Amino acid sequence: MDPRLQRRVQRYGWDRAADFYEASWAEQLRPAQECLLERAHARPGERVLDVACGTGLVTFALARAVGPAGHVVGTDISEGMIDQATAAAERTDVPVEFHRMDAEQLDFPEAHFDLAVSALGLMYVPHPERAVAEMHRVLGPAGRMVAAVWGARRACGWAEIFPIVERRIASEACPLFFSLGTGDTLADLFIATGLHDVEQVRLTTELAYASDDDAIGAAFRGGPVALAYSRFDDTVREDAHREYLDSIAPYRQDNGYAVPGEFVIVAGRR
Ligand SMILES: C[S@@+](CC[C@H](N)C(=O)[O-])C[C@H]1O[C@@H](n2cnc3c(N)ncnc32)[C@H](O)[C@@H]1O
Repeated sequence: MDPRLQRRVQRYGWDRAADFYEASWAEQLRPAQECLLERAHARPGERVLDVACGTGLVTFALARAVGPAGHVVGTDISEGMIDQATAAAERTDVPVEFHRMDAEQLDFPEAHFDLAVSALGLMYVPHPERAVAEMHRVLGPAGRMVAAVWGARRACGWAEIFPIVERRIASEACPLFFSLGTGDTLADLFIATGLHDVEQVRLTTELAYASDDDAIGAAFRGGPVALAYSRFDDTVREDAHREYLDSIAPYRQDNGYAVPGEFVIVAGRR
């Protein structure tokens, strides 16, 4: 596994996914994001960092919580995501700014933030331990940190998407995707980084898709395999769609699907 290739696949894959992301995922990720926000408990006047912020779904909620006396910065490796978030920021008057930045190399001084969060982003980072260490470094004394990741593979009914894509193109989308959400891996990482009072919540969820097209769009166009998928021709696409729909067939409901999923949310303080 080449970390530089993984970063490129993420960067340009999410650039392609950016236009489809909110329509495909905003509703499905809401339970994890709300749990993260509750645990983060951002307060008026605080300085907050949101790592792998995407289009800013969590960042804007944080900005509303800290109010005009606070400040929120969202960072993401994808220019497409940052452009969308920046355009949305221009339409609001909340205190928020966005920068393209790798989670493993945060361009902020030590002790710069009161709170650092990352929602559904750390699974895509080649060395999540470095990203967690960076979030820790930029936290001030008594700073808080919260991260949400997808849970264990066996609890995520859509997990076949990765091998289905890998069998058709070697994409290195995110080789360690489910490892952080298995057992206590993420909580152990927080503790190893030096965080205290570390608490973990495991949430079960259901991804609701109204049709085959909805399920296919979210899995192939709106997420981490979007770059690999863009290289498939029509025949390969159709074949991959069929295989993916077969993999989620056990979760068919009416004309759509209710696919099981799991999130893990971990909080700690410096
Ligand atoms: C599923 S989206 C989550 C976005 C947002 N946090 C949310 O909750 O909607 C994952 C994000 O991780 C970003 N990402 C992937 N690898 C990254 C890295 N190495 N550094 C920073 N961001 C990264 C992607 O560009 C994408 O925007």
